[in-house]
Amino acid sequence: IDITRFQRNLVNWYKINQRDLPWRMNQDPYRVWVSEIMLQQTKVDTVIPYFHRFMEKFPTLEDLAAADEQEVLKAWEGLGYYSRARNLQNAVREVVAEYGGEVPSDPKDLGALKGVGPYTKGAILSIAFNQAEPAVDGNVMRVFSRVLRIEEDITLQRTKKLFEIYVKEMIDKDDPSSFNQAVMELGALICTPKAPACLFCPVQEQCSAFAEGIQEELPIKKKA
Ligand code: ADE
Repeated sequence: IDITRFQRNLVNWYKINQRDLPWRMNQDPYRVWVSEIMLQQTKVDTVIPYFHRFMEKFPTLEDLAAADEQEVLKAWEGLGYYSRARNLQNAVREVVAEYGGEVPSDPKDLGALKGVGPYTKGAILSIAFNQAEPAVDGNVMRVFSRVLRIEEDITLQRTKKLFEIYVKEMIDKDDPSSFNQAVMELGALICTPKAPACLFCPVQEQCSAFAEGIQEELPIKKKA
């Protein structure tokens, strides 16, 4: 696979076709962080109004750190998985206490914060800080399992690690922020679980699964 061509096709497509989502207004690490936590178990369309309200109530990281927990949980009401909100507030309080209110751009420091796992860490480092770090979730594994024809079981932890290695190799070092968001966008708009829109795909010519006609059989999920 011609990696440079893959990157160019994908990022150019993203620049033209990306959705106008509220967390893409700027690269404020706090906004990126909140959005990625909300998006973990919740769909984009559901998240949008919550994200707007949350940012109106807690416009800065300091505002969120200083807020009553009850107020934060109330703003989260309906999104579910409330531990996400609690962890987020604990983590921003730690950022205020330990880092003067600046989200750390050091992978170790960032990954040590409550609720910031490998995916969230990679998303913040790449989207907000332009670092060439992978951010691998189910959508990203679907896209790369098809492009690279990876037939490992994606329910296994070691498969996720494998994808992190591949993405790290494929990521556009000049624009990691656009690259990772482009993969997410491709997974949402084109490279969907069922009936992917391969005829409109910007990387169709580089997709191993498409070449074999097996795109709908990937990714492999063995667990029930
Ligand atoms: N899903 C997870 N992160 C996302 C993002 N930044 N934009 C759109 N969908 C996403």
